[in-house]
Amino acid sequence: MAERGAVKRPLWIFGYGSLVWRPDIPHDERRPAWIRGFARRFWQGSTDHRGVPEAPGRVVTLVRAEAARCWGAAYRVAADERDAVLDRLDHREQGGYERLDVSIHFEAGAPQTDGLVYVATERNRNYLGPAPLDTIARQVRKARGPSGANLEYVLRLADSLREMDASDPHVFALEALLRQEGIE
Ligand code: BEZ
Repeated sequence: MAERGAVKRPLWIFGYGSLVWRPDIPHDERRPAWIRGFARRFWQGSTDHRGVPEAPGRVVTLVRAEAARCWGAAYRVAADERDAVLDRLDHREQGGYERLDVSIHFEAGAPQTDGLVYVATERNRNYLGPAPLDTIARQVRKARGPSGANLEYVLRLADSLREMDASDPHVFALEALLRQEGIE
């Protein structure tokens, strides 16, 4: 009799940062989605993508916020791509993100699904934590890394959230501050 191995299932990954606007992982489906109990914050330092060690950029992480919904994009990764995608994201995010299991919600009426999300906590060496928004804006303006300008990261994220009609006061307030100061 043929030996039965563990059945591999597709994997849903919830993106709330660059994955929202740059889905650089193989996927079979992308859907606007949200997760409960988290708020997006520009509290993670980036020394290898949107900044350098001498001038870290600021990228998003998630913090616990009981009543909050965080909107983003969910990607369905085929079962046979699962390990490769996780390896790739683990490697890409070696700056300090951890995987968390979450329930991913879609538009009203559609069933939720289990998935995972990468979150950077204060336990990682690049974590910067909260700061006044104008301090964050100043830091974003100055920072640039191998993946490009930190400013581009913020503006693209804000544009993509707007396109999906998602509200995010923290992201939009930072965007407004940056645009108010002028975009080069
Ligand atoms: C994101 O773009 O949502 C993301 C992906 C991996 C780690 C952190 C954020």
